[in-house]
Amino acid sequence: VRNDAGGADGDAGPLESIRRLLVERQGLDLSRYKATYLRRRLLVRVRALRLDGMGAYARHLKRHPDEIGPLLKALSIQVTGFFRNRSCFEFLEERIVPELLGRSAGKPVAVWSAGCATGQEAWSLAAIFAGAAGARPERRVRITATDLDAGALERARRATYPAKALLADVPAGAARHFETHPDGTAGPDLTLRRMVSFQRESLLDPAPRRDLDLILCRNVLIYFGLDQQEAVLSRFADALAPSGYLVLGRVERLLGAARSRFEVVSARDRIYRTPPADAAARPPAPPRGAACA
Ligand SMILES: C[S@@+](CC[C@H](N)C(=O)[O-])C[C@H]1O[C@@H](n2cnc3c(N)ncnc32)[C@H](O)[C@@H]1O
Repeated sequence: VRNDAGGADGDAGPLESIRRLLVERQGLDLSRYKATYLRRRLLVRVRALRLDGMGAYARHLKRHPDEIGPLLKALSIQVTGFFRNRSCFEFLEERIVPELLGRSAGKPVAVWSAGCATGQEAWSLAAIFAGAAGARPERRVRITATDLDAGALERARRATYPAKALLADVPAGAARHFETHPDGTAGPDLTLRRMVSFQRESLLDPAPRRDLDLILCRNVLIYFGLDQQEAVLSRFADALAPSGYLVLGRVERLLGAARSRFEVVSARDRIYRTPPADAAARPPAPPRGAACA
């Protein structure tokens, strides 16, 4: 593989144009990555596509929007797992899921897994709702799971995972909702499959949603620039019903104007809630201090 101007420094131009393209089109801000790491990971794609250096890759990426999926994979942006951050799922299972099912009054509980990667988060959610909802959980809960990457979504829909890894991560109580197959794979049973639908969608350009009860958007915003994070968080606040819940990833937090639109439910597990319906009529709370859980 040729470095366009003969050495690592010759990549600076193409690297910068790749960074800019990803910020503009996808909101992805790669400035947190060290240039050496970024260059190494991008060269994996350059080689896989048999391109003639980083400049050729920058042009390829511009012309082929579908290259974003393999690129995110090469940058390890699609890492996920069943019941990832177990304590967060325990909190959901013990406190939030029963409350949402209890107050749903005949209307299905509406859940959005935003940035679902290969689906494990959505299937984990479906399993805890199915465990609490009694008969026909597919009538009581609708989970929409979205991601930018078509390849990840295809795997999410197929939902066959290595059985060993799945069984290691899924807690005993939820394991009954997963089936193991003779070929060493495992996946959600038909009940869970009826509860979840997958859609390709960018968080920068999402379908309008209203009246949601729960949004999980974990380990996605960390890849976004601050402006995009703020815009996405405000959209989440708009999309949630009163007393609707938002769950972020362990290292993510509310920022900007979004801080005044949520109250903290669990700082440790990054769980937030929109104000109750009667509070909507009140003037918004003054912005809190700089630190926010
Ligand atoms: C680390 S994974 C998070 C998976 C899961 N939420 C979890 O925490 O395990 C990040 C996902 O965000 C997706 N993503 C990145 N930018 C996105 C965007 N603009 N719109 C939608 N999804 C995006 C990536 O394709 C990737 O699948």
